[in-house]
Amino acid sequence: MRKLFLSTLSLLLGTIGLQAQETSLKSSVKNVEAKVDSVLNIMTLEEKVGQMIQYNGSWDLTGPASETGNKQKEDRLKKGLVGSMLNVLSVEATEKAQKLNMENSRIKIPIIFGYDVIHGYKTIFPVPLAETASWDMEAAEESARIAALESVAEGVNWTFSPMIDVSRDARWGRIMEGSGEDPYLTSQVAVAKVNGYQGDDLANPTTIAATAKHFAGYGFAEGGKDYNTVNIGKNELHNVILPPFKAAADAGAATFMNAFNTIDGIPATGSESLQRELLKTEWDWDGFIVSDWGSISEMIPHGFARDKVHAAEIAVKAGSDMDMEGGAYQAGLEQLVAEGKVDEELINDAVRRILRVKFMMGLFEDPYRYINAEVKKEVPYEQHLETARDIARKSIVLLKNEKDLLPMSASAGKIAVIGPLANDKDTPIGNWRAQGESNSAVSVVEGLKNQLPDSDIVYSEGVKLGMGERSFLMPLKINKTDTTGMGEAVKNARDAEVVVMVLGEDAFQSGEGRSQANIGFAGLQLELLKKVYAVNKNIVLVLINGRPMELSWSAENIPAIVEAWQLGSESGNAIADVLLGKYNPSGKLPVSFPRAVGQEPLYYNYKNTGRPYSEQHVTYSHYTDIENGPLFPFGYGLSYTAFEYAKPTLSSATLTSGETATLSVAVTNSGDTKGKEVVQLYVRDMVASTSRPVKELKGFEMIELEAGETKTIDFEISEEMLQFYTAQEKWEAEEGEFRLMVGTNSEELQTVTLNFQK
Ligand code: NOJ
Repeated sequence: MRKLFLSTLSLLLGTIGLQAQETSLKSSVKNVEAKVDSVLNIMTLEEKVGQMIQYNGSWDLTGPASETGNKQKEDRLKKGLVGSMLNVLSVEATEKAQKLNMENSRIKIPIIFGYDVIHGYKTIFPVPLAETASWDMEAAEESARIAALESVAEGVNWTFSPMIDVSRDARWGRIMEGSGEDPYLTSQVAVAKVNGYQGDDLANPTTIAATAKHFAGYGFAEGGKDYNTVNIGKNELHNVILPPFKAAADAGAATFMNAFNTIDGIPATGSESLQRELLKTEWDWDGFIVSDWGSISEMIPHGFARDKVHAAEIAVKAGSDMDMEGGAYQAGLEQLVAEGKVDEELINDAVRRILRVKFMMGLFEDPYRYINAEVKKEVPYEQHLETARDIARKSIVLLKNEKDLLPMSASAGKIAVIGPLANDKDTPIGNWRAQGESNSAVSVVEGLKNQLPDSDIVYSEGVKLGMGERSFLMPLKINKTDTTGMGEAVKNARDAEVVVMVLGEDAFQSGEGRSQANIGFAGLQLELLKKVYAVNKNIVLVLINGRPMELSWSAENIPAIVEAWQLGSESGNAIADVLLGKYNPSGKLPVSFPRAVGQEPLYYNYKNTGRPYSEQHVTYSHYTDIENGPLFPFGYGLSYTAFEYAKPTLSSATLTSGETATLSVAVTNSGDTKGKEVVQLYVRDMVASTSRPVKELKGFEMIELEAGETKTIDFEISEEMLQFYTAQEKWEAEEGEFRLMVGTNSEELQTVTLNFQK
């Protein structure tokens, strides 16, 4: 049957002699447009609508359960009325679904298999927020490449990643899934991820299609509450939220996913201006848009659509091409065309886009291209763990290091390792863990013991973080009463040389639907920390968490603090590498850490206001009950060595349109260990047609310096770097004065002034 399909289709395609315009998605497939049209021309309306429908596999993990029973799904697969499936995992399962489709349907269009491969498939890498803290784009690309290979080994050929929603609110549970608060850094990650997943040819069977999501504004949910309303104007939308999506589109992301939220009253899923006008027309992007889970039908509770048919009408007109498990397109599209309410050309546009991606993926050549049991035998899982360890240690951020506690000496006496997350093998796997096995991470206790087999390491849990059943589907029940382990922990701390406290958040405290009004240590953790501190002040606090936390007490009292996030499979080994100085920490925060949750949303690239902060007077923009600014700023992170910045210089004080200037700064490793530093460049437009942020990241470079070594870094300053979405609603640079700031984080900067003229 498979052969028959191939020969019929090759015959069909072989007859096409048209010279069609090539698309911009990366592929070696020739004459794609003509091939797409040749298929489209022989499809019935029912078959076209079928391509626009995505079904879930058998489990309902990421939204309300589907109304479509398995029997109905199977029937529709056999008729060729399903464009894609999600959550169908394994070579056997994908093969079965593909066969039902290919061997029974009239039209024989291969289906694609999507899955949330967010930070690894089986080998789990740091959660995206953590990985971004590495500021290492090669690492970000490499982990995506590995995730792609492991996905393909299970028949999955499409990931719903990268999530590139800029977010400034630590309360939002999904902040762990993105790259933090900065549009430039997020854009860099977007490109690295698309390249990592898709490689340079979508048809290569070791690559998978990427999804830029959630288009758009989802990270700006009011109050950080998931799915909440988004109220932002065009200025914020274009300058902050959209740049990573533009970068992903330009990098050739095969698909986009729209978003659950409304923006300015319009559900993103039903937004014609975002999808059809901006993404598809202005940006000229030729992939397809999948809805978020049920987001088309969710326009009904939004009060934007009367029923599923109406929702389908709005969504298809707006440019949503595929309905993820929502049933709206199935319920409405054929009827809408028959009634003349929807022009069939809109359906054709959507189907063309879906077919294009399928052609690009080489699926018409071989529908089983990504379904190959042999691949799994070749996947170097062991080697992937080594890479995961390296990326994990690069993602760790050293927040504080006093009393010379770090790096710990291998010959230190008794080490007390304390805390509910110290021997937790599951939390480091994080949320959105794909097929990362539960309890499969290396814990901190294990990591330390692996490297210090002869040391006196005593572990005590102290307190439990959660109580009762722990599940992906339910919020974690926090332990607020059971203190039975505290006494033993305090006793162990009392006679230890050094205490490694491992506190933070459970894996399921962040992620979808996991927004929190409080971002401090949940439950009895702070009480435990204070009790331990009372008997031993030599504490290294290791944080395991998916969002910025409120750490004021710890920052004031605890001498050493290591932000270790949720680092994935090799977490404990990577943490031990840093604690023991085998890796000199180089991570920098991709997001501001607040002094108190009441400061959220908190971000470094704020606008100045008419009354910027001043210590002199009360009627200035600030909170009266707390010190101004973040506890730890964006871009911040220490090393075991020290870096000194010389005064930056500029090749010319004036930049004329079309030219470039060079900003140079010499950086010296003034400590006595080799180390890495991320040199950061920020820009401020002093007077513009709209108020501009006090600074915006526009470049960074990671350098490695031997002790005593100096390197000069040159940043090329171009007109493009000075552009923004102006009051005239155009991306352009406006004439006038700019401040260029360079340094080690968003607060410790030196400034030079540049004049831009056209
Ligand atoms: C809902 C989430 O918002 C989205 O990011 C995810 O890809 C889908 N569910 C599918 O699981």
